[in-house]
Amino acid sequence: MTVKPRIVQTESTFCRKEWVDQYDEIARRSMTPLFRHFARGVRKAGLARGWILEIGSGSGRLFLALAAGKSTDFKFVGIDVSRGMARKALENTREAGVPVHFPQASGGNLPFRDSCIDLVISTSSLHMWSDPVGVLNEVYRVLKPGGTCLIRDGRRLPENWFWRLFVWASSRIRGMDGRQRKAWQGAIAAGYTVAEARELLGRSHLQDWSVGTDRVLFELVIEARK
Ligand SMILES: C[S@@+](CC[C@H](N)C(=O)[O-])C[C@H]1O[C@@H](n2cnc3c(N)ncnc32)[C@H](O)[C@@H]1O
Repeated sequence: MTVKPRIVQTESTFCRKEWVDQYDEIARRSMTPLFRHFARGVRKAGLARGWILEIGSGSGRLFLALAAGKSTDFKFVGIDVSRGMARKALENTREAGVPVHFPQASGGNLPFRDSCIDLVISTSSLHMWSDPVGVLNEVYRVLKPGGTCLIRDGRRLPENWFWRLFVWASSRIRGMDGRQRKAWQGAIAAGYTVAEARELLGRSHLQDWSVGTDRVLFELVIEARK
């Protein structure tokens, strides 16, 4: 079966304040269950303390779910190429009383020294990275030996009818308007297949990795260890 090619999205999608605000509104209204699901995955991985870095942290709401966990002792930092997103994230986490640093930076050039991060996470961002292998190599560089990386992102699966139904239904459930629905469909069309994600990881410095899928959310689930 032939797979439809990716339709690339640019990293600068969130350069306008109104798009940042619209994205944050959707994240606030309808993405909390996804962030909680991610946070459960972090706890299942047995992590309860140390430095967590999110790449493409957007409006910062995943940190709120991570901070809500019992008996955790994390220190958080989130980087994003979008200045507007970094600002919004600071606003949201401050309001919730969760201390997080948000330097504006690209995943391809992380402003951290080697081997200082316990866990690198990312959600719904991989499909936008212009140099995904470069970002994965930076992840490898900043992770402590034994450190973990958890990446989730939408998966492109246009041949699958359930997937198409999922994309259609999720835009309805989230109450998106026409422009937002188009952006969401664009993000999904820019997603990687499992085979493509494996190919990216195979070209990176990361060695101990796996690429799986989330059956409910159709997402790509990448786990790696340094
Ligand atoms: C769809 S948003 C997801 C935000 C957040 N992770 C969430 O789940 O709500 C993707 C984010 O990744 C950021 N981004 C895209 N390419 C990036 C890169 N190379 N380095 C850092 N951030 C990037 C975008 O600016 C955007 O804020």
